[in-house]
Amino acid sequence: MNRRLNIGIIGAGRIGKVHAETLAFRLPEANPAMIADVNPEAARSVAERCGIPRVAADAAEILSDPSIEAVLICSSTDTHAKLIVEAARAGKHIFCEKPVDHSLARIDEALAAVERAGVKIQIGFNRRFDANFARVRAAVANGEIGTPQLVHIISRDPAPPPVSYVKMSGGMFLDMTIHDFDMARFLIGSEVDEIYAAAGVRVDPEIGAAGDVDTAVITLLFRNGVIGTIDNSRKAVYGYDQRVEVLGSAGSIATGNCYANQAIVSTAESVHRDLPLNFFMDRYTESFVAEMKAFVDAVLEDRPTPVTGADGRCPVVMALAARKSYEERRPVRLEEVAAPAVAA
Ligand SMILES: NC(=O)c1ccc[n+]([C@@H]2O[C@H](COP(=O)([O-])OP(=O)(O)OC[C@H]3O[C@@H](n4cnc5c(N)ncnc54)[C@H](O)[C@@H]3O)[C@@H](O)[C@H]2O)c1
Repeated sequence: MNRRLNIGIIGAGRIGKVHAETLAFRLPEANPAMIADVNPEAARSVAERCGIPRVAADAAEILSDPSIEAVLICSSTDTHAKLIVEAARAGKHIFCEKPVDHSLARIDEALAAVERAGVKIQIGFNRRFDANFARVRAAVANGEIGTPQLVHIISRDPAPPPVSYVKMSGGMFLDMTIHDFDMARFLIGSEVDEIYAAAGVRVDPEIGAAGDVDTAVITLLFRNGVIGTIDNSRKAVYGYDQRVEVLGSAGSIATGNCYANQAIVSTAESVHRDLPLNFFMDRYTESFVAEMKAFVDAVLEDRPTPVTGADGRCPVVMALAARKSYEERRPVRLEEVAAPAVAA
């Protein structure tokens, strides 16, 4: 049998459980060997469910174990940068959930540690691995729709998170739109130079009271001339709404929502169908598997990871620019927020 990659999982919450299940049940080339969580019960429960043989007392126990070759950082965002530095020092390859951090200084410190250690890092922008979005990217990259001119991303959640979550999330741009900022760069294959965010509170006044927004249209000016929009809402009553369209000189390509079934019900009153898949756990199931396979393969075959540390940093710059644009009611160039210095 081919070699299996020994992996330690740090964080056994919502996303840690998704990745643990992928490693255990979908990827024969992966061996989830240890798991840790500051809540030991959470780690024990996932270990039991996924047949992970060791529950570690903490992340340090995973990082000091020489048999562990790679780690998944699935803990809360405020722990990512520190754990990246520690994992890099321990010589472990790293998969880290998005966002890397809310602070560019801490991101740069973490990516510098990765660079120094020469380990691999992949950031958890799973939507790149969704078959629909990958097809749109392919059409742009292979010239099928000619020269891209416009990109539109619609990204609406079915319901807002609790206000307690909003308060520690870094705000909608860093928590939710971050995926769309990454999608914009991924689809067009060019950097964004300028952002204008028109945003407000149209869903829940409590979100506004917590200092955040829940509704936005964000305009993107790309370096290659493409113009883009991101349309965000924290609440679409019909479910998770995830669509993109790119218009090019030779045509357009668009993807719609995904449904649990394809049935169309026609009656004397209406023609209708069931609602789209409700949220990210259902809508992006296969993309979580594909991103994990890409990480494991990159380590086993010693190839570059498909979503780099630089890819993790850029959307944070874009989110900070969007926030500044919203607060100052003007277009913001990305260099106002950060120099384009990137490593890893
Ligand atoms: N890619 C995606 O679509 C996606 C989806 C959900 C969450 N996320 C990201 O994943 C991260 C976790 O989110 P979640 O929804 O799973 O949160 P969660 O609160 O459900 O889980 C986080 C877990 O980390 C544990 N933890 C905190 N500090 C720790 C530490 N120092 N060591 C070990 N365990 C620690 C907590 O006890 C908790 O069990 C966040 O950064 C979030 O942005 C990404």
